[in-house]
Amino acid sequence: MATNTIRIDGVEVSFEAGQTIMDAALAAGIYIPHLCHKPGLSPHGSCKLCTVDVNGRAVSACTMPASDGMEVANDTEDLKEVRKSITQMLFVEGNHLCPSCEKSGDCTLQAVAYHLDMLDGHYPQFYPRREVDASHPSLVIDRDRCIMCELCVRASREVDGKDVFAISGRGTGRQLIVNSPTGKLGDSDISMDDLAAHICPVGAILIRDHGYEVPIGRRTFDLHSVAETDLGEVKLFKTKHHDEADGEVDGEKEGGVYGL
Ligand code: SF4
Ligand code: FES
Repeated sequence: MATNTIRIDGVEVSFEAGQTIMDAALAAGIYIPHLCHKPGLSPHGSCKLCTVDVNGRAVSACTMPASDGMEVANDTEDLKEVRKSITQMLFVEGNHLCPSCEKSGDCTLQAVAYHLDMLDGHYPQFYPRREVDASHPSLVIDRDRCIMCELCVRASREVDGKDVFAISGRGTGRQLIVNSPTGKLGDSDISMDDLAAHICPVGAILIRDHGYEVPIGRRTFDLHSVAETDLGEVKLFKTKHHDEADGEVDGEKEGGVYGL
């Protein structure tokens, strides 16, 4: 059977029928910047960070099916500038004040900004004021850091078999909402075993009790650039409250890794 191949920046990459450019690139160890994509979840195509050039046309690598003979440009100065502008817009739309965020060093948005040599937000800050939800014993939602990637929405629906999160509203009024009688996370059926509790790539859904457990300077992206990190892995943390619910108050608080 003939092998299907595409070329990414001149490198020949094979792919299987049904795979996207992103699938083929990830399998070949080629990094295409992305935020709303996670292997194992349905493609979303919303952040546009994975924009690549195919025969002179800008397309999203995470949604565009690979087809034999395709010439893909990925690592170019022009695309880097496009991706930097997108990242700057994401930064100014929320309150991404990295030095005061617990996710600093583990945040994919921050890591992408470093990868793209982003030095400032460039655009005027929106400074949104969206509601913080601290109603859950083990999780807290800071909506001002949400980049609307819908990873938590899809993880809950497609992996956890629930429907805990959604994005609602338009324009600057768009925000993460919780499907519970009160709209509070504490009244939802989310569990700490759910992928949705751990998948947020920024500091919008945080695990309580794990504040600064790993010192700044020794976190994921402090040690490795985003381009050399397996973004398919999601770290799972057990929390004190989770252990209490299990009847293991003194049980170990070791987390694991969820590979999608
Ligand atoms: S809360 Fe996190 S995972 Fe969910 S949509 Fe916002 S940024 Fe994405
Ligand atoms: S990763 Fe492709 S649009 Fe977000």
